[in-house]
Amino acid sequence: MDDSTLQSIRYHRGSLQLLDQRKLPLNTIYLEIRDAVEAWEAIREMVVRGAPAIAIAAALSLAVETCKLLEGFTGTSKDAASFLINKLEFLVSSRPTAVNLADAASKLTEIVTNSAATATHANQVFQAYIDAAETMLEDDVASNKAIGSHGSSFIQNLNNKVSVLTHCNTGSLATAGYGTALGVIRALHADGVLDRAYCTETRPFNQGSRLTAYELVHEKIPATLIADSAAAALMKTGRVHAVIVGADRVAANGDTANKIGTYSLALSAKHHGVLFFVAAPLTSVDLSLASGDEIVIEERPAKELLNTHGGLGEQVAASGILVWNPAFDVTPANLISGIITEKGVITKTGNEFDIKGFINKIRSNN
Ligand code: MRU
Repeated sequence: MDDSTLQSIRYHRGSLQLLDQRKLPLNTIYLEIRDAVEAWEAIREMVVRGAPAIAIAAALSLAVETCKLLEGFTGTSKDAASFLINKLEFLVSSRPTAVNLADAASKLTEIVTNSAATATHANQVFQAYIDAAETMLEDDVASNKAIGSHGSSFIQNLNNKVSVLTHCNTGSLATAGYGTALGVIRALHADGVLDRAYCTETRPFNQGSRLTAYELVHEKIPATLIADSAAAALMKTGRVHAVIVGADRVAANGDTANKIGTYSLALSAKHHGVLFFVAAPLTSVDLSLASGDEIVIEERPAKELLNTHGGLGEQVAASGILVWNPAFDVTPANLISGIITEKGVITKTGNEFDIKGFINKIRSNN
């Protein structure tokens, strides 16, 4: 990967380091992750966050643990498969809303199950797992670059110079590299059509001010930070042409779970006639859910609202106050103008997205 790119995940066979995103933007500290238990804790505690990055960090943590088993595992190939499948199930329990990890776990489970069916030695199953997890790392960067390029081309056709608003962090730090919604912003900038990117603070965890602002400055993209509560006022000025956000889970009808506050932005965009795009890999689509009503929304600890620095800093709220801290909300499909994926932009036919049809068409073309 390009050395100038911020890396949330540093991996080579047998070694995984995660950038402790809780310490950004002031300190760059990588934590060594030796196994699935350490990855589970790192995901739960927000060392690594962002739907694609969570999936890849989890998969690679188990690859590192598996590497150590290549010498000395005494079980059969079926035992090796059971070991891996149990660990994957455990990793999926770390955070509930983003589907990317569950999707990765299900694909990896299929790979180890198939491998165990023919393998004569446990190491063949372990090796199949390691290879597949490493491929996921490479595929994510390629898929983000494709999202960026499809999104930029689509938006350029609407306007020749654009300013966009984004929410949360969807950049190199939230993925294996390049980013989804922030990838589109990077591509717009590289194509010379981006006037300005606005990013929200993204209370209460401040992924916007701590991470997205950091990435935008790092990439030298013209950018302005706003308080979440300034978004409607900004849209009213006419300075924003499109809102572009990521996704943690997209239901079959296009309803999209993303960072808390996304729904408010979509409502505001609709009111002000601003386009609203979701940028996400197809691994964020969950066709098993008919609508967003079925998406489980994670509730985070009260301390993230009561204290600064995601709960690690000083207390700022009154002692004794009750807290409701949902980490995500669901934006209904009727507020979404298009879903930018690595295979193209899904737009509506009539008033509805046909995501299943889009995916089937891709499969039949391959
Ligand atoms: O709670 P987080 O920081 O993991 O939430 C991240 C988001 O909501 C992102 O916008 C989403 O995962 C898309 S990441 C490319």
